[in-house]
Amino acid sequence: MPDKVNILMVDDQPGKLLSYEAVLAELGENLIKALSGKEALDHLLKTDIAVILLDVSMPEIDGFQLADMIREHPRFHDTAILFISAVYMTDVDRAKGYERGAVDYISVPIIPELLRAKVRVFAELHRKTRQLGILNHELRRLSSSMIAAQDKERRRIARDLHDSLGQELSAAKMVADMIPLRSAESKDRAAAEVSTLIDHALQQVRSISHLLHPPLLDEAGLRSALQWYVEGFTKRSGVETAIDIVPPDFPRLAPELETAVFRIVQEALTNVFRHSKALKASVSLVIGNSQVCVTVRDDGRGIADPTMKFRPGTIGVGLAGMRQRVKEFGGELQLRDGNPGTLVEVVIPIGSVREQSFPAIAPT
Ligand SMILES: Nc1ncnc2c1ncn2[C@@H]1O[C@H](COP(=O)(O)OP(=O)(O)OP(=O)(O)O)[C@@H](O)[C@H]1O
Ligand SMILES: [Mg+2]
Repeated sequence: MPDKVNILMVDDQPGKLLSYEAVLAELGENLIKALSGKEALDHLLKTDIAVILLDVSMPEIDGFQLADMIREHPRFHDTAILFISAVYMTDVDRAKGYERGAVDYISVPIIPELLRAKVRVFAELHRKTRQLGILNHELRRLSSSMIAAQDKERRRIARDLHDSLGQELSAAKMVADMIPLRSAESKDRAAAEVSTLIDHALQQVRSISHLLHPPLLDEAGLRSALQWYVEGFTKRSGVETAIDIVPPDFPRLAPELETAVFRIVQEALTNVFRHSKALKASVSLVIGNSQVCVTVRDDGRGIADPTMKFRPGTIGVGLAGMRQRVKEFGGELQLRDGNPGTLVEVVIPIGSVREQSFPAIAPT
């Protein structure tokens, strides 16, 4: 079992511990034995315990006293305790146990199936709670890095607007302000200069806005938008990037799927530029077998093994966002050793998406 939980069995008689062990072995969890309350507390403090199997009658401290001590600790408020009692338990005894947050009872002679079933339920509950905790933690981490990424993106856009567009427009204004002071013949030259500066500014607006959302994506589809992006990427980054699209008359897909694939390629290539030190990269987009397959390959320094396995803490917003987009379409994202370099591979089923709500549009 990949994600075993710990089950702590507490009884002063070694023979009984062995028999619990025999009954519970087939659950495939980690079984820990304790012969006394003290030993049990030691284990509890050191390990994450899912279920405690507790003998009610032990010589030094009885099961109820031990349960009280365990429950006093906030960490163990919710730990499941299964009392095992050889004597007949009245309802009052049971209530006493429940007040302490105990979760269940088993009476002796133990029915193996019953013990196994109860422990299995608690173990499963603990496993699910633990997984939920990990997911929650990851979600919190991601949402704060999403916010940080959003801020970073805003700063970048602000800088672009200020440094490129702002400069062109300030220069245009300076020249325009001087026009009344100029001689008649230099006025024409100044006007032409202003016009050229405004042309440059318009160019900047176009490229900033197109990178934020390429209009080609809506108008002409994924194929044209990716070709445009890859061409621009090669110029901006200096990483010689080729694109291969099969079939060449690639059909239109659902708009949200086209946007997702575009953003995935954009992020993968941004990563190539930022992290890989590659000289060359290639993008391939293939449709067939009711699925679309996108790969981005580079010849750079390769990706670390933990990142390739999406180990939490090693991936940023980029890969997490890619994975999330792919998941939303029921697809799969894999990172592989490109030997050399890195291979990012995305497979997304398209049959249902296209048939349900977005009938295929004629190829562009
Ligand atoms: N093509 C690549 N070549 C080498 N390493 C890569 C490549 N792509 C990703 N990586 C590694 O994977 C890590 C995680 O990538 P990810 O895109 O998730 O985050 P990031 O690029 O560091 O930051 P951001 O959140 O801004 O995207 C990178 O920091 C980098 O170490
Ligand atoms: Mg990135």
